[in-house]
Amino acid sequence: MFISFEGIDGSGKSTQLVLLRDVLEQSGSTVMTIREPGATLLSESIREILLSTKQTITPTAELLLFSAARTQLVEKVIEPALEQGTVILCDRYVDSTTAYQGFGRMLDMESVKSCNRIATRGVMPSVTFFIDVAFEQAQQRMQFDTAAGEPDRMERAGREFFERVREGYLAIAKDDPARMVVIDGARDRAAIHDDILRALRDRTSLPL
Ligand SMILES: Nc1ncnc2c1ncn2[C@@H]1O[C@H](COP(=O)(O)OP(=O)(O)OP(=O)(O)O)[C@@H](O)[C@H]1O
Ligand SMILES: [Mg+2]
Repeated sequence: MFISFEGIDGSGKSTQLVLLRDVLEQSGSTVMTIREPGATLLSESIREILLSTKQTITPTAELLLFSAARTQLVEKVIEPALEQGTVILCDRYVDSTTAYQGFGRMLDMESVKSCNRIATRGVMPSVTFFIDVAFEQAQQRMQFDTAAGEPDRMERAGREFFERVREGYLAIAKDDPARMVVIDGARDRAAIHDDILRALRDRTSLPL
């Protein structure tokens, strides 16, 4: 079972991923948590390049770097783990590319879709949670996050960019309602977590 978490920076993805991981582990599932880009040596190296503020990266180079990191992750980690029956919880996946590079950077959507097809090798999550939070609220959450440090290259993109990204996520959800669950992320952690559990009980056979 493959589950991904999406949303703008600071929306609460990682928080919810950890809450779900704990519940799944307590109910006996073998769980693997992954962050994107990351989880392989190559993908973590690409992550460093992508998030560093030391250099500018063109939108197309950004698209290709995220895609390279993803395909390494899919082939080396996700495909083998799915074969073992592991529950994979992924902090961002292909929808991030559609939302950030497609809607946010406004790259040609056909090129983004082609890259996504190549990078995922057709491997898609069964369920994707889009934690929907307004830009201001996400910014506020990041400001109060003492572990967050300085904003990375992506986080510096600004309000208009993130508003396009959010609209992008909503468009993806509208296109693919069977996979993407939109969660109202403006509420407290427990209410969001409850919605996530409820959606998984409805949509999967996970022992929850
Ligand atoms: N529902 C919530 N209400 C209030 N604060 C929250 C909520 N969920 C998460 N937070 C806090 O907001 C901050 C950002 O949350 P989190 O790190 O989970 O977001 P994220 O989407 O993973 O961000 P990033 O994209 O930067 O990794 C953290 O300090 C977290 O504790
Ligand atoms: Mg996070």
